[in-house]
Amino acid sequence: DMNTTVSKLLQQMTLEEKLGQLNLPSIGFDVTGPILSQGVEEKIRKGLVGGVFNTFTPSAVRKLQDLAVKETRLKIPLLFGYDVIHGHRTIFPINLGLAASWDMDLLQRTARVAAEEASADGLNWTFSPMVDIARDPRWGRVSEGAGEDPYLGSQIGKAMVQGYQGIDLSKNNTILACVKHFALYGASEAGRDYNTVDMSRVKMYNEYLPPYKAAVQAGAGSVMTSFNEIDGIPATANKWLLTDLLRKQYGFNGLIVTDYTAINEMIAHGMGDEKKVGELSLNAGVDMDMVGEVFLKHGAQLVKEGKVSMAQIDAAVRRILEAKFKLGLFEDPYRYISEERNKTEIMNAQQLALSKEAAIKSMVLLKNSNQVLPLNASKKIAFIGPLVKDQRNLIGSWSGAGDYKKAVSLWAALEQKGGGYLYAKGCNLLEDENLLKRLNAHDGQITRETATPEQLITEAVATAQQADVVVAVLGEAFGMSGEAASRSMIGLPENQLALLKALKATGKPVVLVLMNGRPLTVSWENENIDAILETWFGGTQAGAAIADVLFGAANPSGKLTMSWPRNVGQIPIYYNAKNTGRPLDENQKYTTKYLDVPNTPLYPFGYGLSYTTFTYGDLKLDKKSITAKDKIQVTVTVSNTGNYDGVETVQLYIRDLVGTITRPVKELKGFKKVELKKGESKEVSFTISVEDLKFYNSDLKFVAEPGAFKVFVGGNSQEVKEAGFELK
Ligand code: IFM
Repeated sequence: DMNTTVSKLLQQMTLEEKLGQLNLPSIGFDVTGPILSQGVEEKIRKGLVGGVFNTFTPSAVRKLQDLAVKETRLKIPLLFGYDVIHGHRTIFPINLGLAASWDMDLLQRTARVAAEEASADGLNWTFSPMVDIARDPRWGRVSEGAGEDPYLGSQIGKAMVQGYQGIDLSKNNTILACVKHFALYGASEAGRDYNTVDMSRVKMYNEYLPPYKAAVQAGAGSVMTSFNEIDGIPATANKWLLTDLLRKQYGFNGLIVTDYTAINEMIAHGMGDEKKVGELSLNAGVDMDMVGEVFLKHGAQLVKEGKVSMAQIDAAVRRILEAKFKLGLFEDPYRYISEERNKTEIMNAQQLALSKEAAIKSMVLLKNSNQVLPLNASKKIAFIGPLVKDQRNLIGSWSGAGDYKKAVSLWAALEQKGGGYLYAKGCNLLEDENLLKRLNAHDGQITRETATPEQLITEAVATAQQADVVVAVLGEAFGMSGEAASRSMIGLPENQLALLKALKATGKPVVLVLMNGRPLTVSWENENIDAILETWFGGTQAGAAIADVLFGAANPSGKLTMSWPRNVGQIPIYYNAKNTGRPLDENQKYTTKYLDVPNTPLYPFGYGLSYTTFTYGDLKLDKKSITAKDKIQVTVTVSNTGNYDGVETVQLYIRDLVGTITRPVKELKGFKKVELKKGESKEVSFTISVEDLKFYNSDLKFVAEPGAFKVFVGGNSQEVKEAGFELK
């Protein structure tokens, strides 16, 4: 069994071999930090490597695994990790888009396919799910997560872990999940990546920690530390965080890996020299050192000086060996290396079909006046914009092994449907020299046309004038969101907005198709453009999915999982906020507000339209009050009152009116996706139990406090029906 295998190995290992297991260098294709690991193959031979990341394909992996199991003294196999974030070869929409589906089965199936493909490509470990709650859309990494809500984020984290790991981690098509970034990485000040985090315990426990906990308790085999500090101590050296909270309170017994050179970076944080930060992280509870090689370099000396105990080292080695055991690597180190599977289980028809399904389900219809969508195919339609024919941006950031040349552009999908549409590029993706310089330094060249911006717009306007309807396809370059891609202004690039204004001035109906990795500020667009469809970076099948939605073969049903601010000055803005002592009252001067913008976002959490319309009946509660032992049932009739069959995500929120600590004005506690045929009505029920009413009080006890509660049900967090009940 696992214990015997691991204990036996531990007894045989020298200290150097033990420290080798804690070492996770990067070798291969890609780096996200300043150091590229050196001499990795030689180190593997010497038993100084526990796993590698950024190497995949059966042949590349086999070569390294051979070194480990044939040339080292103890023949311990390697872990092979990679950032499989929203699909491996078949790319799904970015995670923020997938979250907008509110479809846990879909989330699980996409993670399942990602694991299938990754494991058919030699990998056995993914650095996903990223479950950082994010309320600041300036932060580029909001694209990688599930948005702002702890309840939804927890469900999604759990679904993804189950998808990656399946029920049996030792199967050759399941891989180890890694919950990241522990913890609070999404709360970096001012949305600037890698910035400081400071937060009260009460806020942490109630709002930011639940998804990590849920993903860990769903059985995730590993956790990654975050770059930020918590209470002044970087996560990677934070013993309270890693040992007291994660190990003891959450009962986590998997492996803890650092983020990329996170140990070394604590020198810059001001925590000491390299040896010191190594000591701090080992004693805090870190097991594996990603790229930094601090443990390898200083571990022996730290043990010799008694600064780190052998027991601490053994515990770390044990967890890494256990992960290998659970993956079945001791039984067969080549378990995840199969040329055969590589041919049949990568980008096959089912996987591509799932990518299209996911892209459709993630799209959010933000506006649709005069039913300009779906498009009438008999009309003359002009597709305009730098993203109409684009493939590169469709697969988004963190599409490591994805090949953008395999992505279906919108234009290709339109041609597939028979073509005959008008086209103009209208503008370059970007004109901003500074931005271009920064993006081009890292993400490959964003090219520009030889024609001047004025010429491009003139040509586009002429094209628009020949059409009955204009579809403008605009958004961010993929490198404008993701890691190290924070923005202080989050509108459409100025040159694109200039094009859109020129198109609007033609007087033609304009549909805006957006591709981007974060909430954008689109107040002008919302005022002036007839329809807006958010498609995120939709993945390998994005174009085909968008074409289906635009022409009505599919009806959009996605709902936002992050509030869209009216302007950047409103940030952070989120639906589950506190009431304050001076809630907004337009008749009173001294109440909480801005003078120049409403308190509400442009599009609230949970918002998204459909080609049809849904109406909600009044809420029916089966009781007026409950005790800690009962449950209350909330029922509502939802009707499809429009002209299309559709899917609605019915959302349940509660408010705890009085507490020993202040409580949010709304908290999501449940949701159900219902399919409703045109004209159809259905009763939708939710059960609320005392568990749903609990929160962490100021002693960090998870309690429900008796008193009055409100319950809300609706199609988004703002438009809801409400009722009340009491907890006795
Ligand atoms: O997994 C990532 C992490 O999200 C950011 N830093 C690099 C890691 C490995 O590539």
